[in-house]
Amino acid sequence: MIDSLLVSKHLSDYLSSLQPDLPEFLEGLYNQAREERVPVIRREAQSLLRFLVLDREPGRVLEIGTAIGFSSCFMAEFLLAGAVLDTVEKDDARFIAATANVNAFALDYEKRYNRKAPDICPYHEDAEAFLARLSEDGAKYDLIFLDAAKAQYPVYLRYIEKLMTKRSILVTDNVLQEGTLAESKFTVTRRDRTIHLRMREFADVLFRSGRFDSILLPLGDGMTISRLSSKETQS
Ligand SMILES: C[S@@+](CC[C@H](N)C(=O)[O-])C[C@H]1O[C@@H](n2cnc3c(N)ncnc32)[C@H](O)[C@@H]1O
Repeated sequence: MIDSLLVSKHLSDYLSSLQPDLPEFLEGLYNQAREERVPVIRREAQSLLRFLVLDREPGRVLEIGTAIGFSSCFMAEFLLAGAVLDTVEKDDARFIAATANVNAFALDYEKRYNRKAPDICPYHEDAEAFLARLSEDGAKYDLIFLDAAKAQYPVYLRYIEKLMTKRSILVTDNVLQEGTLAESKFTVTRRDRTIHLRMREFADVLFRSGRFDSILLPLGDGMTISRLSSKETQS
């Protein structure tokens, strides 16, 4: 796992040090994830999500890729009372760990703030089936955080588009694929070609299709923020 591809380690460490300390529960969960080598959002991605959640005050959040629930709990820490966060994970062991962690977070939050924590609802399912169902049901989310199987991103995006309103934003982590996104497919090892192709396709839709307005931020391995294109939403 890399800290930042586009900013030197020295600068990235400094920027991370400017971030406010995490509450003890979240710090413990973060350290546990790193010790167990579970991939969870790093400090830089945390700073972006924290800012967006505080600034936009989303009432409904969707996360694709729960792992053990760190980023779900992290976002919930900054959500307003009454907000709901749905999150999906297909791995059995991670889903079980996430459910336990989310419950422990709710208790800890209630003790610290003397009020009910925002609802985190973990779903144990393959993301594509889950997204298909949500879009069939006409669900809408204010903030969507995409952090799961990269090769599936173009497929997920077709559903995600339907889950967004003109005010929604989509945040995606690890878009640059450790820099390989910018390389020709011939320089990428055969094993990584599919993922390379799919991430190129994903980036093309976000930046060139006219369906989204997007920006890529030099945080970690590249994070994008997207909204539905203003051209699309004016009609
Ligand atoms: C990078 S981790 C998520 C980290 C988490 N967002 C955090 O920062 O705490 C990606 C997770 O997506 C899950 N995942 C991968 N493919 C999936 C799929 N098709 N459906 C649901 N979950 C999937 C993986 O099992 C893994 O736990």
